[in-house]
Parts: sequence; C-alpha cells; structure tokens
Amino acid sequence: MLKMALCAYYAVWGLLLEVAVAFGPVPRITWEHKEVQLIHFNESKVSNYSTLLLSEDKNVLYVGAREVIFALNAVNIAEKQHELHWKVTEDKRTKCAVKGKSEQTECRNYVRVLQQLNDTFLYVCGTNAFQPTCDYLNLISFELGGKNEDGKGRCPFDPAQSYTSVMVDEELYSGTSYNFLGSEPIISRHSHQSPLRTEYAIPWLNEPNFVFADVIRADPNSADGEDDKIYFFFTEVSVEYEFVGKLMIPRIARVCKRDQGGLRTLQKKWTSFLKARLICTIPDKNLIFNVINDVFILKSPTLKEPVIYGVFTPQLNNVGLSAVCAYNLSTVEEVFSKGKYMQSATVEQSHTKWVRYNGEIPNPRPGACINNEARASNYMSSLNLPDKTLQFVKDHPLMDDSVTPMGDRPRLVKRDVKYTQIVVDRVRVLNGTIYDVMFIGTDRGALHKAISYENGMHIIEETQLFPNFEPVQTLVLSSKTGRRYLFAGSNSGVVQSPVAFCDKYTTCVDCVLARDPYCAWKPLEASCIDIFKEGEMERSWIQNIGGDASSCSDKVRENPLQHTFKHGSTAELKCSQKSNLAQVVWKFKDDVLRVESPKYRLLEKALLIFNLSEGDSGVYQCLSEEKVKNKKFSQVLAKHVLELKKMQHTTVGPTVTAAPTEGNSDVPKVSAVSTEGSTAHISTTHMVPVTTARILSKPIGPVLTSVASSTELFNSIPDAVPEKTMFLKSNDNFLLMFLFLFFFILFLCLLSYNCYKGYLPGQCLKFRSVMLLGKKKTKSDFSDCEQSVKETLVEQGSVSHQSGEQPKPAHDTGYETEPDCGNSQLQAGDSQASREARDKPFDVKCELKFRNNSASFCDKYLQRHPFWMIPSLSYATGDLKLELLKQSVL
Ligand SMILES: *[C@@H]1O[C@H](CO)[C@@H](O)[C@H](O)[C@H]1NC(C)=O
Ligand SMILES: *[C@@H]1O[C@H](CO)[C@@H](O)[C@H](O)[C@H]1NC(C)=O
Ligand SMILES: *[C@@H]1O[C@H](CO)[C@@H](O)[C@H](O)[C@H]1NC(C)=O
Ligand SMILES: *[C@@H]1O[C@H](CO)[C@@H](O)[C@H](O)[C@H]1NC(C)=O
Ligand SMILES: *[C@@H]1O[C@H](CO)[C@@H](O)[C@H](O)[C@H]1NC(C)=O
Ligand SMILES: *[C@@H]1O[C@H](CO)[C@@H](O)[C@H](O)[C@H]1NC(C)=O
Repeated sequence: MLKMALCAYYAVWGLLLEVAVAFGPVPRITWEHKEVQLIHFNESKVSNYSTLLLSEDKNVLYVGAREVIFALNAVNIAEKQHELHWKVTEDKRTKCAVKGKSEQTECRNYVRVLQQLNDTFLYVCGTNAFQPTCDYLNLISFELGGKNEDGKGRCPFDPAQSYTSVMVDEELYSGTSYNFLGSEPIISRHSHQSPLRTEYAIPWLNEPNFVFADVIRADPNSADGEDDKIYFFFTEVSVEYEFVGKLMIPRIARVCKRDQGGLRTLQKKWTSFLKARLICTIPDKNLIFNVINDVFILKSPTLKEPVIYGVFTPQLNNVGLSAVCAYNLSTVEEVFSKGKYMQSATVEQSHTKWVRYNGEIPNPRPGACINNEARASNYMSSLNLPDKTLQFVKDHPLMDDSVTPMGDRPRLVKRDVKYTQIVVDRVRVLNGTIYDVMFIGTDRGALHKAISYENGMHIIEETQLFPNFEPVQTLVLSSKTGRRYLFAGSNSGVVQSPVAFCDKYTTCVDCVLARDPYCAWKPLEASCIDIFKEGEMERSWIQNIGGDASSCSDKVRENPLQHTFKHGSTAELKCSQKSNLAQVVWKFKDDVLRVESPKYRLLEKALLIFNLSEGDSGVYQCLSEEKVKNKKFSQVLAKHVLELKKMQHTTVGPTVTAAPTEGNSDVPKVSAVSTEGSTAHISTTHMVPVTTARILSKPIGPVLTSVASSTELFNSIPDAVPEKTMFLKSNDNFLLMFLFLFFFILFLCLLSYNCYKGYLPGQCLKFRSVMLLGKKKTKSDFSDCEQSVKETLVEQGSVSHQSGEQPKPAHDTGYETEPDCGNSQLQAGDSQASREARDKPFDVKCELKFRNNSASFCDKYLQRHPFWMIPSLSYATGDLKLELLKQSVL
C-alpha cells in the first residue's frame, strides 16, 4: 500500500510539476518580422557577424565578421562608415587545409576580439586559419598596424570554440583555448608588464565553455583599498559531483587587476583565481538550470551595487526550458572573501572527490586581492605572498559555497524557448519607480522584453529580429538617453531595433495595457509615445506599469461597417486582435454570441456566420477583453451591421456595399473602456471605425451568390492555424499528454494493486506468486536501503558538518558499489524494461526508492517520460536529494 501510494505520489508530483512550468508568462504581443521596421546591415559574401563593439561616445558600432571589420553609424547601421578586409594569406589557408580543416569555412579569419584600446586604436584578433593573430586597428585611417601579434591565448584557433574577452586599462583579459586542438583552456591577461594565465590543471578549468567577462571596479572612496576585479562566466564539467555522464556546472570566476603572479610558486600565473558555482534552480520543483548561455552585468548610478543577470538552460533540454537568474554582487563577493574552499580527497580506487575543506586556512587569505589590510602586513603585491598561501590557492581554486540568486529562485522561467543572450536596461518611469527591463535573445532569432512586477514577470513583447529565425549571437544595448537601441548580431547580418514600439499602440487602453516602461499615452495628441524621446515629461501623460487602464477615456467615432447578404450565404466579419493575453468576444445585439454553435466559426482574425437568414441581421461587435489583476478592460475592436438583401433582387451576384479591403490588417483599434469592479468610467456605447468584411461564397471575389455548399465553404476557409502562435507553441497537447499519462499510471497502479490482493485471475495470479516468492524481507530491507542512500547522499554533496576537522576520505559509495536495492528481484517479464531503464543514466532515484514490483511501474513511468524532470532528479546535489528523500518517505 505504501509503495502504491509512493508511486501515485510520484506520478502526481511529476504531473503537477510539468503543468506548473508549462505556462510560463506568455509574451503579450508578438511582432512578426514584417510588422516592425528594423534596420538591417548585411553585405553579400560576408557572413558570421558575431562580434559587436559599441562606441557610445563616437556613435559607432564596430562589427567583426568573417574576414571583414565594419564601422557603422550607430544611429542608423545601414550607413557604413568604414570597412576593412582582413584576409588569410593563400599560404596559410593551404597549410590549414593540410591539417584537415575545411578550406572554405574553418580556414578563414573569423574576427573574435574587438576591444577599444584607446581613443585611436582598437585591439582586434582573428582566428586566421587556426593561427590566431592580433593587431591594432587605427580608427582614423581604419587600417591595421600590421604588427600581426601571436594571438594564442587571446583568441581561439577554432572559430567554433567559445571565447570571451574584456579590455581593462589597456590590458586584454580573455577566456579561450590555447592550442590547435582546443584542449587546453586558459584565462589570461595580455600585458607587456605582467602577462598572467591560469594553471593548466583540471581543478582550475575543466572543459570550460566561456560566455562572458567584465570588470567590476572597486569603490575608489572605500577605506579598504580593494582592487578592481575581473569576472569570468563559463560552464564547465564538474569535478566535485560524481555522475555517470559529464555533469555541467555554471561558474563564476574572478581575478584581481593588480595580481602580478607569484615569485616562486605560481610564477606568471594568477594568485587570485577563484571560482564558484552559480546556482539557478527551482528547488521545490526540482528544476536545475546548469548551463549558462550569457551574462549581463547591470551597473547603474541608481544601483547600490551591480547586479549580474544570467540566462540558463538545463543540460538536457528536450522541451526547451530557459531561465533568467539575477545575483547581487555582495553575495558573490561574500562567497569569495568569506566562503569555504573545496579540496580534492583521493579515495580508494582512484576516485577523486571534492569535499569541503575544514582545515586551517593560511594567512593572508588565499585568492584574496591585495588590499590595505594585506599592505599593512607588508604584502605589497602578490609577489610578496608566502608560499603557503600560494600553494593553497593553487590546490584549492574552487569554493565550496555557491552563489545563490536574489530571491533564491529564477526571475523568469520560460518554456518552449532557448535563451541565448541578455542585456538589461534600467528605466525610471513617470511615477518615479525604477524597472529593470530585460531584453533576451533566443535561438530562433526572436527577442523577448520582460519586466518583473510584484514578484511576477510580464513579457511585454516578442519581436522577430531575424527573418530567417537564426540564433541571436550577440546583443548590445545603447542606453544613451533619448537614443536607445538594441543591436543584434547573427550569422547572416546585424539588426538595429528600437527598445520599444510605442507608436504601434493606437488607443490609450492598449498603450497602458502594454505595461511598457518606455511608453505612455499623450492625451493631447491621442498617441502612444516613447517617454525618452520627448523633451520633458508631462503630468498629463498616462502610464501604469500595473496595467490599470482606468484613467483612459478613449473617444471613438461611430462608423460601423454595413453588409448586405443573401439567404443561405456565409459572412466573414473581420476583427484582428494583437494581444496574446486578451480574449475576443463577439456580441450580437448587445448579447454575447455563442460562437461554439455550429452556425459560427471563430477564426484568428474573423468570425464566420453560415447559412445566413433574417434572424442574423443586426449589429455585431467584436470586443477584446483583457484581464489585469482582477480588472477586466474591454475595447470594441470592430463593429459590423448585417442587413438582409431583399428577395426580389434576383440578379446574380450583386456586389457587396462595403468595399472589402483585403490585407488591411493594420486596422486602427479604437476603443471604449469598461471596467468591472473599479471606479473607471464606462463608455460602452462608443462607436468604432470599421474593419473589413468579406463575404465568403463562390469564388468570384466580393460577390454574393446563393447557398454555398459546405465543401466549398471549407475549401475557402482560411487556414485556422493562428499566425500569432507562430512562435508561441500551444501547450494544450502537453497538458493532454500529461493527463493521459497520469490516468495510465493510475490504471497501472490499480491493476497491480488488485493483482497483488489476488482479485484478478489467471496470468496475474501466477505473476503475483512469483513476485511474492521472490521476496523475503520487506520492511527492514527497504529502510536499510534508504539508510545507505542517505549516507551516500551526504558524502556526495560533501556536507561535512564536523567543523575544524580535516576531510576524511569518504568510503566509496559511488553508484557501482551501492547496495542493491533495485530491480534485481524483478522477474523475467520486467527485466527488459528495467534493464532499459538502468541503461539510462537517470534511473538512480527509481532504484533507490521502489522495491519489488512497484519498481516496474516506476520504470515504466520513467521510460514514458522523456522529460527534464528525470535528469534533474539524479543530478541534484546532496541537499536537494535529501530534501526529496524526506518528502517521499513521508
Ligand atoms: C539583409 O539586409 C536587407 C536590407 O538591407 C534585409 O532586407 C534582409 O532581410 C537582410 N538579410 C538578413 C538575412 O538579415
Ligand atoms: C594608443 O595605443 C597605441 C598602442 O599601444 C599607442 O601607440 C598610442 O600612442 C595610444 N594613443 C593614445 C592617444 O594614447
Ligand atoms: C558562419 O556562418 C555560417 C552561415 O552563414 C554557419 O553555417 C557557420 O556555422 C558559421 N560559422 C561560425 C564559426 O559561426
Ligand atoms: C543580495 O541578495 C541576497 C539574497 O537574495 C539578499 O539577502 C541581500 O539582502 C541582497 N543584498 C543587497 C544589498 O541587495
Ligand atoms: C508607480 O506605479 C506602479 C504601478 O502602478 C505602482 O506599483 C507604484 O507603487 C507606483 N509608484 C509610486 C511612487 O507611486
Ligand atoms: C439554414 O437555416 C434554415 C432556417 O433559417 C434551416 O431551415 C436550414 O435547414 C438551414 N440549412 C442548413 C444547411 O443548415
């Protein structure tokens, strides 16, 4: 019984979990590529526009593409100012091809580093046919200095490999790989005085994938004399967790700017390199985002401290989940300056595990920057540091404490999308509140714009930046007041987009419901404006980020569209509705129309009325109803009047009176406000300009004929798949699948319970007796197993609470030697299934928790469950697993 309950619990738990995540916030508006006017830059025969550098002072956007560097006008990137070809010599290309690389693609020069050195020079590096080269680009003549420095350690050899770089005080810091094969990762500083690099050792960097680097300056007024720090972000293969496959871990690493390396130990190596795990999880839903794709560090004078925004995905991401986590800098600094270190503990059978180091920590603190306190103890530079400190940091670059996100959970979790890039803008809206607007690029060429509001996220809009759905590879924000733009780079070109499309909102209600910090309604002009483009802000403007449109009073003209029709024909009444959060409601003679009836058919942008008769003449209104925080705002989008054509007119095909305007989808929305449960004034009687109506019938254009047969009708009905959902995949199918799955498992559980009780005849009884015979002990066995699991977990998570104690080697309780509390007692019928399940890397939990026959349900459940929740079960850290275990033992 307990087992059954567990199984059911498990199934329900999994179900709830998926449903909860299935409906992340939906972007309110989806702008298709052709709906928005974006500025493009691309040149024929040039590809891979993947490196962007914005110079805000000069208003220039530098673009590094394949074998070309461009300088574009940052106000209008279609205006090219300069271009420089930087080609690979024929000789080098041949040599590269000889080494087995593709001459047409890989053996080219991909510009990877583009950094501002000083006013007149850019520092640029390219892969140069697997011989990375760096040079100085003179911005006045727009020519290379011809120095052709060796770019090893600053730029990858292979264009497909990850890289990141940042220029700090004319010194280049980069994270990349150091050799042809790309097997030697490195974080280095290129400097004439003191070049430094990481130690080539697995504990320092283990197959990292670099995504971002930036400097955070120390407060010059602070008394502790701290150093500026350079932070690197990457995903690497875990050394600290035991796992069947390669477990990825997102990291933050940092070095100090004034680091000079050690004198004997760590000569020309970082003495301040420390790294920690970045956590981006939803513990109560058991979701772990362990691959970091991009980072943006928000620094603003209005912020007390910088905030680090990261976009994450899970390692196995077959449903396309993404998350945004934000970290405050003090949490990061706390981990590095006060946290515990990790230490590798060699265990018997040459397993290396990492556990918390609880021993004595040398003084000065290993990895700390030289500050006033260190100077007071006569450590003036890293060259003076004692060997003890240096040896310690060499062996312990990894912190045991992790960096937890603000609020202990992601800011945003979204399904059916893979986020690749992020930038964040800090905006002060009309009433003085400050919002951090996140712009997030996807792997399908779209951009999501989101704000956090009262603990929830609101995705204001989704914009298709690239017509060919290519991944957004680089995203840059220009946040100069009055001139805010986004620049996005991809393989095929660069796109410039405004930060908002306020003028697309044509009514006050629409403008306010958008909840866009950049937009406000200007009643005098009756237009939705970008508040940062106007000279000064005015009190009369209407803006409410909460979406309360009560103060709107849209005035509208009365101008309904007239249609005449014949008996038995079909009418198509157009009404287009942009908001994905609104519902379309049709009213006929002021009553809500029951569109489910077979007489009607609701399409994405129209209503069809079949078999028209006298009773159908009258006024039809199309309303958009949008609910924001229990307040419903409705606007009349369109109004149609249908009239019966007199029967005596028997001439074939009288034309429709109202001119049909095909393709006029940009119908101005004019509205009337009505609010429920609020003080807003109600003006439902306002009339509307007209949308189009088209009468569907025999295919002679806008002509009325007699009864259309149903087959003709369906041939001429436009495809009902809504255009709007092009990027927003429907989740309904998933829900159905989950429900089906749930009932299926319930059925299995019931079946076996009945079988177990002996209620079912024949085969089942045989099976049952086999099962019962095969099992001797029940309860005690189960708890033994549980006990050992707990032990294992404690060690794996390296939660050693005895303070001041040296970490003792843990006895090896890896998966191989785990006590068998799994499927071994299963009979032939189930062995296939269980073997399959065991072959998968994620069957651990199941084996641990379910004994005997209920294990087979669980196996089946897992097999039928190709979802992320399963991996997350097993690669959870010790703490998480324990938590889970507690839950399920209840
Ligand atoms: C290239 O630029 C043109 C406009 O100059 C634009 O219409 C086209 O969509 C761009 N192509 C891509 C792939 O971005
Ligand atoms: C900029 O850097 C280059 C290369 O180091 C140097 O030659 C030049 O004098 C510098 N220019 C200025 C204005 O500092
Ligand atoms: C360069 O762009 C092409 C498409 O234009 C793409 O197939 C290729 O993977 C890109 N190469 C790199 C290294 O990004
Ligand atoms: C930083 O984040 C932590 C965790 O959410 C929080 O406790 C702390 O107050 C934050 N610090 C600041 C200065 O915002
Ligand atoms: C500004 O408006 C928002 C949204 O309605 C509200 O939550 C916030 O309290 C307002 N701030 C001030 C200072 O009035
Ligand atoms: C059309 O409507 C009339 C009544 O208005 C009804 O008698 C007739 O059966 C309907 N025809 C079809 C095909 O539904």
